[in-house]
Amino acid sequence: MRLTILGGGGFRVPLVYRALLTDARRGTPGRCTELVLHDTDRRRVEVVAGILAREARDVPGAPAVRVEPDPDEALRGADFVFSAIRVGGTAGRVRDERVPLEEGVLGQETVGAGGVLYALRTVPVALDVAERVRAVAPDAWVINFTNPAGIVTEAMGRVLGDRVIGICDSPVGLVRRAARAAGADPDAVRYDYTGLNHLGWLRSLRHEGRELLPGLLADDAALASFEEGRLFGGEWLRALGALPNEYLHYYYFRRETLAAVRDAAETRGAFLHRRQSDFFATAAEEPERAPELWEQTRREREETYLAESREASGGWQRDGCDLDGGGYDRVALALMHAVAHDTRAELILDVPNRGAVPGLDGEAVVETVCTAGADGVRPLPGTPPGPAELGLMLQVKAVERATVEAAVSGSRRAALRALGLHPLVDSPAVAARILDRAAPFG
Ligand code: G6P
Ligand code: MN
Repeated sequence: MRLTILGGGGFRVPLVYRALLTDARRGTPGRCTELVLHDTDRRRVEVVAGILAREARDVPGAPAVRVEPDPDEALRGADFVFSAIRVGGTAGRVRDERVPLEEGVLGQETVGAGGVLYALRTVPVALDVAERVRAVAPDAWVINFTNPAGIVTEAMGRVLGDRVIGICDSPVGLVRRAARAAGADPDAVRYDYTGLNHLGWLRSLRHEGRELLPGLLADDAALASFEEGRLFGGEWLRALGALPNEYLHYYYFRRETLAAVRDAAETRGAFLHRRQSDFFATAAEEPERAPELWEQTRREREETYLAESREASGGWQRDGCDLDGGGYDRVALALMHAVAHDTRAELILDVPNRGAVPGLDGEAVVETVCTAGADGVRPLPGTPPGPAELGLMLQVKAVERATVEAAVSGSRRAALRALGLHPLVDSPAVAARILDRAAPFG
């Protein structure tokens, strides 16, 4: 089986390869035997390929790795395509986050005005990718990691239909943490999670038919033992009656998170830009040190993840078990196995709604529990979201749709609507200024 990664020079590609090596060690039937890396940045992709080559040493049956500079050649013959591109590079993220912050509203890679700016730049490129896949590898399944994952998946779906599936590791991280806090085996729980990407709620968690969520929400000590419990606090979680995705902290605690992001010495984007630029420069010079430097840089990224939100909720360190990584690559591989071997896994994925969430139209990409198999991925019906959750989903979906319209047509009016209607942008005048500064529209 051949897997192609677009954005093959991405920092997290070695995590995906590690997951593939685990399959090779286990001798998983039908596993990936060939990995094709494509990236617009030659130096980065060579650094990554070097790390993978070292990881593959002594692993019999390790997937062969090929760097392919031509995008069509990279896609040809692929069974699966991981699309994990960063249009504008990490420098683009720095601007997406900084410009809104300078105008007094949140700038974050995927949330608020920062997410809209990032999507405006990314959607046209993602649509080109989708067109090339349709032309060159029409039978391939596309797994989209590119952020903002919900918008980008919905846009690519216009070209690829159900052949594109979006993924994010935040929901499964939440499920696993909540299960552990409730004293249940994370691999043995069933759950109900629905929302949009980076905007969803865990509303049921069951073990052997027993509902665990009310007990967990009532237990302050258990809530204080994991990330989302600490971020949102017992009182608010009990008021909501659900466990929100970590990114909802920017919405519910908008004042505190904005203050923490503004007070930070540098933005998340600036930090990652600096550390990753250093990493790729040094690793290119000293390839033998690349794996060790990569591991250090990865660990530091995990340790500092959501630092401002942790600061805004009392200042605390992440748990050791949240620092391993191995989240998004595991979801991706589980999805790939389910589709390739029809193992019918249940996974939280970004797919068109198709009636799963009443109140949202059928084409709206939602992030929810799905069944995945050889015939693709279908959302499972769950408990319908309450009016507050649905209201927020509808508002943010309108923002996403206006963003795609603006990205495709170049319409400033649509871009202004996207930014000005975002719940975290408190004035259309601010939206207009952000647009003037960050995204040139006629
Ligand atoms: C989580 C999110 C991803 C995001 C990643 C890294 O896993 O779900 O969408 O890409 O964190 O975030 P960072 O701020 O380190 O780039
Ligand atoms: Mn995500």
